[in-house]
Amino acid sequence: MISRQVIDQIRETARIEEVVGDYVSLKRKGQNQWACCPFHQEKSPSFSVSPSKGIFKCFGCGKSGDSIGFIMEIEGLGYLEAIRALGKKYGIEVKEEEQSSEAQQEQNEREAQLIAMNFACRYYETQLKEAEEGQSIGLSYFKERGFNSQTIETFQLGYSPASGQALHEEALAKGYQEQILLNAGLLSESNGRLYDRFRGRVMFPIHNVSGKVIAFGARMMGNDKNQPKYLNSPETLLYHKKNILYGIAQARQAIRQKDNCYLTEGYTDVLTLHQAGVSNVVASSGTSLTEEQIRLIKRYTDNVTVLYDGDQAGIKASFRGIDLLLQEGLNVRAVTFPDGEDPDSYCRKVGADAFQAYLQVEVRDFMSFMLGIKLAEAGKDPLKKAEIVGEIVSSIALIDDTIKRAVYLKECSIQLQMAEDVLIAELNKRLIKKRKEDKQRKELDLPEGVVNAVTTLDYVQPQPIIGALDLRSGYEREICRLLLSYGHISVDEGRFVVDYLFEETGDVPFMAGPFQEFMLAYQSEAMLKPGTDLSPYFMAHEREDLRKMAIELLSSRYEISEAWKEHDIEVPREQDILSHVVVTTVLRLKWQHIRKLIEENQKVLQSSEIEEETDLHQKIHFELKQTEKELAGKLGIVVAGR
Ligand code: CTP
Ligand code: MN
Repeated sequence: MISRQVIDQIRETARIEEVVGDYVSLKRKGQNQWACCPFHQEKSPSFSVSPSKGIFKCFGCGKSGDSIGFIMEIEGLGYLEAIRALGKKYGIEVKEEEQSSEAQQEQNEREAQLIAMNFACRYYETQLKEAEEGQSIGLSYFKERGFNSQTIETFQLGYSPASGQALHEEALAKGYQEQILLNAGLLSESNGRLYDRFRGRVMFPIHNVSGKVIAFGARMMGNDKNQPKYLNSPETLLYHKKNILYGIAQARQAIRQKDNCYLTEGYTDVLTLHQAGVSNVVASSGTSLTEEQIRLIKRYTDNVTVLYDGDQAGIKASFRGIDLLLQEGLNVRAVTFPDGEDPDSYCRKVGADAFQAYLQVEVRDFMSFMLGIKLAEAGKDPLKKAEIVGEIVSSIALIDDTIKRAVYLKECSIQLQMAEDVLIAELNKRLIKKRKEDKQRKELDLPEGVVNAVTTLDYVQPQPIIGALDLRSGYEREICRLLLSYGHISVDEGRFVVDYLFEETGDVPFMAGPFQEFMLAYQSEAMLKPGTDLSPYFMAHEREDLRKMAIELLSSRYEISEAWKEHDIEVPREQDILSHVVVTTVLRLKWQHIRKLIEENQKVLQSSEIEEETDLHQKIHFELKQTEKELAGKLGIVVAGR
């Protein structure tokens, strides 16, 4: 526990401009100071610091916070760790008060182990570089594998002598306690005697996010079949395998800057890729990925590219990992390598440039990747194919984000050449099941009918993705579909849907093109024949483009699947909840529009040099954000506050 008083003192002393100024060079412009954002890559500054408010804020990536938050973010520290770091910098004593003696003891033990691990790491490094055994066995091995001295330095690679007492004796001579060495996993006990755990192996220190050595991986030399190829530290107070990724300390800055994390399996993959200029890379160290490891990545980016060894069995075993990544809300991509190659061997084979190009060209989104592998396996067997559809849709159902789900579903329907409606029905089945389970888990006593309302709002509506995933045109299309299907129906107090849609979307400039054309044509016809169903007219329209559009719009109208009834859920038909559907669709369109305006305004903001102009666009920014929040509130969407 750190006292409130100390935290406040640190807040006051650690001036935001000073704390930030250690990492980027700030330029004063008006009341605020500006720099290129250290959290994402950019060419013109959109990262601002307000000394008067004591906060930073990036208009590009949205990160914001106070000086403690800044340190947490940039150093990848926890709240208390960040406070301690600032305390150290400003010479403020951060006393832990009311720590139980037990907690105090644990703290002491941790620190003692960290010191011992640091010592061992240095020792192994020295052995590698200076001792004869280390040079002739360890160093020559690393050189042969193509690791240069820079890499050896960065990852603090080392060598453990074969004698079995080398580290032990050196540590005792330096005054380290045997018990601590044992607890830290550096020594192991056999027949009542203590030995070095690592003997005659090259050493890969495993660092925590702040770069402290907490464990070792150790590779054997030669090929003794009776020994494991890699021997790793046991679980200790410092090292919990499930919490850590190999290479995270060396990669985190690059992961943040490139906004992507390459995920591999092995130590050597990390080293080789890093050396080849792909420094945003970590390894799960041969075990299946854990939630904790994924959260660790999430501190720095939402994008993961999984690099697989080129063997099919391994790839299939890893699909679970992809599901876990999706569930945690990450965007998942994948690259595979030719059979028998791992990223390390392939990179060495083709060289750094070709390897980087390979990553660019061969990267697939998780769905194409999974589909490709599964379809190849299924061949022409229709039953297998059906199974695959189920599996893929299950994976998509894990994604929380409605829009992303819709995009993937669309993509899936194209790739499988399968009607989207069918996939939607499958997806909704799973979503309902999931929601039921969630509901049961949370033991929420929702009144009858609430589930229906939620699912109706949330379930995916088919939205054609025109060009490159343009969601706005998706909503525009949906507006046209509603217009054609229900324009003539009166919703509230005798107002026709067509009137509502035109009034409400009046301030949203539709993108030029077919939807705009269609809306105008519909409107002029509707004025002549109010209250008439115009769909027959448009389906037989003399203009081919309008006729085609009408047919396309009407035929894609989804019917709520039979599947829903299977679950005894009475879902209202679209007609019955028409005003709700119309209102939310308009809100969604507006919301998209506002987001586009925000984006455009931000571009101007980033490039403007003149102070008045900057101020104006900041005002606009906040106003737009306000509107976005209001819309999102009505839609039940959470918006990052800025
Ligand atoms: N691993 C382990 N213990 C083992 C085997 C593997 O901890 N007995 C972990 C290591 O982190 C290793 C990763 O799983 O890096 C991948 O294993 P593998 O592909 O066998 O090793 P490579 O990294 O390819 O090692 P090398 O190229 O040196 O053979
Ligand atoms: Mn290998």
